[in-house]
Amino acid sequence: MKVTIVGAGAVGASCAEYIAIKDFASEVVLLDIKEGYAEGKAMDLMQTASLNGFDTKISGTTGDYSKTANSDIAVITSGIPRKPGMTREELIGINAGIVKDVATNLIKHSPDVILIVVSNPMDTMTYLVHQVTDLPKERIIGMGGALDSARFKYRLAEALGAPISDVDGMVIGGHSDTGMVPLARHATRNSVKVSEFLSADRLSQVVEDTKVGGATLTKLLGTSAWYAPGAAVSALVQAIACDLKKMFPCSVLLDGEYDLNDICIGVPVILGRNGIVKIVEIDLDKAEKAKMQESAEGVRKTNGLLQV
Ligand SMILES: NC(=O)c1ccc[n+]([C@@H]2O[C@H](COP(=O)([O-])OP(=O)(O)OC[C@H]3O[C@@H](n4cnc5c(N)ncnc54)[C@H](O)[C@@H]3O)[C@@H](O)[C@H]2O)c1
Repeated sequence: MKVTIVGAGAVGASCAEYIAIKDFASEVVLLDIKEGYAEGKAMDLMQTASLNGFDTKISGTTGDYSKTANSDIAVITSGIPRKPGMTREELIGINAGIVKDVATNLIKHSPDVILIVVSNPMDTMTYLVHQVTDLPKERIIGMGGALDSARFKYRLAEALGAPISDVDGMVIGGHSDTGMVPLARHATRNSVKVSEFLSADRLSQVVEDTKVGGATLTKLLGTSAWYAPGAAVSALVQAIACDLKKMFPCSVLLDGEYDLNDICIGVPVILGRNGIVKIVEIDLDKAEKAKMQESAEGVRKTNGLLQV
């Protein structure tokens, strides 16, 4: 199993580290345009192998796509991250050009690849990859909801005073501060609805804290986060590589599901060896459906800024 990660920055390197530590891939290739950067990150990571006990071979390259040939899975994290006060949507100008170029180059060397798009604004970048490549829709997956759901579970556990392993919850919708739809009504603590433990006010605070989860970290760190994003991407890569048929909310091209068409937005999907095995349609109530449609409007507005 060969995995390529384009962009050896904060998220790309963190993703490579988690993949290596889980030791399910034979090879991870890091590619960056900054001279020597991917090679340096790969060497540093390889020097953790004997300490962390993995056999995954990590290598780096400055822009040589022939080194990525025959990748089974490729992750696109190349592009600029946001700075404090910026929205993800403001990154579109620079990142669209980078993502288009990277996706095209990857496919030239790995026509059967499954692409995971991470660069922001992620839903629009995922849609862009559909527009500029001929890959079947099952093989283009945007990562956002897996991270947002992990942040939701963190906030739920905090509010409940419970261990995170007790908590389950999911965030669907667009990967933006205003577009996320944390499904509070469906969240549980060991199968019991969290609304049995938390007041409506506390639960809406959890929802609001989840939606600004990325912005909160960007303010603290001066750039966007990388540990949880890297871990979330590695979880998707593992589900595909190991054919786990696990369910994650991912940004995927919809064709009537959730009453939406011609848009990439976060919905629950089952992931397996060929990418998206199934889009899962869950029962949303009237308010949740309205939030999902509103979220889609926001994503469409950003898609409208694309110049393909
Ligand atoms: N989808 C999500 O949930 C999520 C979470 C966190 C970050 N992000 C996004 O991921 C992206 C990366 O974030 P980061 O913190 O790792 O940024 P970073 O600046 O640390 O790393 C980005 C890397 O991309 C490289 N790069 C730029 N253009 C390239 C090209 N054409 N080819 C190859 N490499 C190129 C840069 O040299 C840099 O090393 C940002 O757009 C960020 O907003 C998304």
